[in-house]
This record gives sequence, structure tokens and C-alpha cells, in this order.
Amino acid sequence: MRVFQIGAAGGVGQRLSALLVARGDEVTGMHRRPEQAAVIEATGATAVTGDLVADDVATLAERLAGQDAVVFSAGAHGTGTDATTKIDGEGLRKAADAAVQAGVRTFVLVSVFPDAGRAAGAGDAFEHYMRVKKSADVHLVGTDLDWVIVRPGTLVDEPGDGHVTAGPAIEYGDVRRDHVAAFIAEVLHTPGLRRSIVELTDGPTPVAEAVAALVDR
Ligand SMILES: NC(=O)c1ccc[n+]([C@@H]2O[C@H](COP(=O)([O-])OP(=O)(O)OC[C@H]3O[C@@H](n4cnc5c(N)ncnc54)[C@H](OP(=O)(O)O)[C@@H]3O)[C@@H](O)[C@H]2O)c1
Repeated sequence: MRVFQIGAAGGVGQRLSALLVARGDEVTGMHRRPEQAAVIEATGATAVTGDLVADDVATLAERLAGQDAVVFSAGAHGTGTDATTKIDGEGLRKAADAAVQAGVRTFVLVSVFPDAGRAAGAGDAFEHYMRVKKSADVHLVGTDLDWVIVRPGTLVDEPGDGHVTAGPAIEYGDVRRDHVAAFIAEVLHTPGLRRSIVELTDGPTPVAEAVAALVDR
């Protein structure tokens, strides 16, 4: 499978690239800063430069030509409300529209768990982030792509043990970036699971079983 990752140099992106390459997939990772090429290539993926803010839909579509799937795990990671709007919001819209234009049907989006930060008084910037993420989800759902929206709980870097809880509505919790990556890798290779929104936390179920259970619902 040919997978194009947007956000490939990030915490989830690097882990996912390495897993997909190990499965035998051909992975291309987009990055915006020159020094990120080495990080992506260290996973075994091919690095290409690109910027969700500067590039238009046609330019992104050219890069996506011939791919089987897109994974979008890019984000502004707390660099301000304007960056959140441009990257997590408008960037996702451009990437989804580019996938439509390029004829790449499968599109996996890393979104956010709807309960995140609700009890913490996280402030206006976080509420803005939550609104932008939701409206990005709405845009993707409105396309005719074979999308899967993954809504992870709070991301942590503790090494994974391969066990999660996944479902359309689950209790909020943390999830290891290793588990988000493993879950997406399994989803990409499970064509029976498409046009689904899945909440994801650490939990007791092996990733492959958790994905299979979503198909069987
Ligand atoms: N943190 C949490 O607890 C949490 C919870 C749920 C969901 N999420 C979401 O999970 C996703 C992945 O998280 P993560 O930890 O992997 O994030 P991350 O490490 O910040 O990775 C995001 C990647 O996106 C890239 N990016 C940003 N702007 C870009 C642009 N204009 N063009 C191309 N690439 C761009 C970043 O590159 P630069 O280094 O150049 O900025 C970075 O490599 C994010 O969308 C985040 O919103 C996070």
C-alpha cells in the first residue's frame, strides 16, 4: 500500500511511518522544515517538502497522485489560534480536497477526543482548537472519501504495550502515541472499516482485535 503522511515528522507521524514501513508499505512523509527530512528518512519513508499553509490544493494534489491513502496527523501544537485555524482547520480542508482531486480514496484523520480538557479550564485557545478540530471533522465527513476519523484521548509518550479501547463513544483517557500509530496502521489495512469516527484510549484490547471489533459492529 502507498501511504502519504501529512505530519510525518511529528510524534504520531514518525511512529506510524516506522510501523507501515515494517509492514512493507511504501510511505511518503511530508514535512515543512528541511531538517525534518532526516527524521522521516530514518523511519524508512521517503521525505517530501510541503506546507499546508503555503501550498494550494492543486499543489498538494500533485504530491498525492498515485497514492492509496492519506494520513493527516499535522497540527499547530499550541503555537497560537491563528496557526490552529490555518493548519488543523484550513490545512485539513486543503488536504481532503487535494485527496479528492488526486483520486486518493482512503483518508485517515487524527482529530481529538471531544471530552479533552473539559474539566481543566483550558482557556480560549484550547476551546478554539476544539472548535477547529470539530469543523475539520465536519468537512471531511462531507466529502465522498473513504474517511476514518480517529479521536485520541490525551497523547502520551510512554512506550506502548499494544492494548487499547476503541469505539464510537468511550470514556475519556490518555492514549500512548505508539497506540495511535498502531491503531491507524491496522485501520489502513482493514478496508472494511471506513466512514467511521472512532474514539481511542489506552485499554485492555489488542489493537488488531479492537479494529476487527469495529468492523463487526
Ligand atoms: N497532544 C494531545 O494530547 C492530542 C490529543 C488528541 C489529538 N491530538 C492531535 O494529534 C495530532 C498528532 O499529534 P502529534 O503529537 O503527532 O503532533 P506533533 O508532534 O506536533 O506533529 C504534528 C506535525 O505536523 C507538522 N506541521 C505543522 N504545521 C504544518 C504545515 N503547515 N505543513 C506541514 N506540516 C505541518 C509539524 O511540523 P512542525 O514541527 O514544522 O510544526 C509536526 O511534524 C495533532 O493533530 C493533534 O492536534 C493531540
